Amino acid sequence: MTEINLEQKEVLKAVFFILLAFISMFLVLVLFFYFSRKKIVQIEVEKKNIEIDNQKKILQNTIETQEEERKRIAQDLHDDISSKLNIVSLNTHLLRTPNLKDEELHDITQNIIELTKKALDNSRRIAHDLLPPVLEKFGLHAGIEELVFECNSSKSVAVEYLNSAKKESLESLSAGTQLHIFRILQELINNSLKHGKAKKITISLENFSNQIKLLYHDDGLGFNSNDTNVKSGIGMSNIASRVTIINGLSDIFTKPNEGFQFQLIFAYE
Ligand SMILES: Nc1ncnc2c1ncn2[C@@H]1O[C@H](COP(=O)(O)OP(=O)(O)O)[C@@H](O)[C@H]1O
Ligand SMILES: [Mg+2]
Repeated sequence: MTEINLEQKEVLKAVFFILLAFISMFLVLVLFFYFSRKKIVQIEVEKKNIEIDNQKKILQNTIETQEEERKRIAQDLHDDISSKLNIVSLNTHLLRTPNLKDEELHDITQNIIELTKKALDNSRRIAHDLLPPVLEKFGLHAGIEELVFECNSSKSVAVEYLNSAKKESLESLSAGTQLHIFRILQELINNSLKHGKAKKITISLENFSNQIKLLYHDDGLGFNSNDTNVKSGIGMSNIASRVTIINGLSDIFTKPNEGFQFQLIFAYE
C-alpha cells in the first residue's frame, strides 16, 4: 500500500515538474514573442521616422528651390526687362518734346526699337528657362538634344548624347517626370563645367528591363564622394529630391581627378 502511494507521489511529482517545465517554456516563449514583437515595432517606428525626416527634407529642398527660382526670375525681370522698359518709357516721353529735329527723332525712335527688341528677346529667354518649349512640344529626347546642341555650340565642351531607349517608353513618361530628368541633366552639366572643368561629357538613355537607365559621365576633376560637405550642396540635394519624386534610384561614382559619373534608373508606365 505504502509502496503504491510512494509511486503515485513520484508520478505526481514528475507530472508537476513536467507541467512546471511546460509553463516556464510557455512563459519564456510568450516573453520572447512579446519582446521580439516590441523590437520589430520599434524598428518599424524608427523606419517611419526616417521616412518622415526624408519627406521633410525633400519638402524643404523643394521650397528652397522654389524660393531660389523666384529670386532668380525676379532678378531677371528686374535687370533684363523692367530696366529696358523704363528707358523705353523715358524715350517715348521725349518724343513729346516740341520742335524735335529729324535727326533727334530718328535717334529716339531707333533707341525705342532696339530696347523693345532686347526686352522681347529677354522675355523669350526667361520663359524658355522656366519651361523649355521644346520639352513641352516634342518631349524629353528633343529637349535633351536641344540642351546638348546649346552646350556644344559654346565650344567649351564636347557633349555626346546617345539614345537607344524605345520611343514608347520615353513617350509614356509624364510631363513632370520629363521635366525632372531635364532639370537633373541641366544641373549635372552646370556642375561638370563649373566644378569639374570637364572637356567631354557623355549622356545616354537606354532601356533596362522594364525601366529606363540614364547614364551621365564627365572627364573632369571629380571629387571625393565620401566628403559629406560636397554632397550636401543645394544642386546635388535638388537632384536627390527629384530622384525621390520620380521614384528613381541613383548612384554617383567619382574620385578626385577621375571624372564624375551619375546613374539613374526609373520606371515608365
Ligand atoms: N561634375 C563635378 N565635378 C567636380 N565636382 C563636382 C561635380 N559635381 C559636383 N561637384 C562638387 O559637389 C559640390 C556640390 O555641388 P552642388 O550641390 O551642385 O552645389 P553648387 O554647384 O551650388 O556648388 C560642388 O561644390 C563640387 O565640389
Ligand atoms: Mg551645382
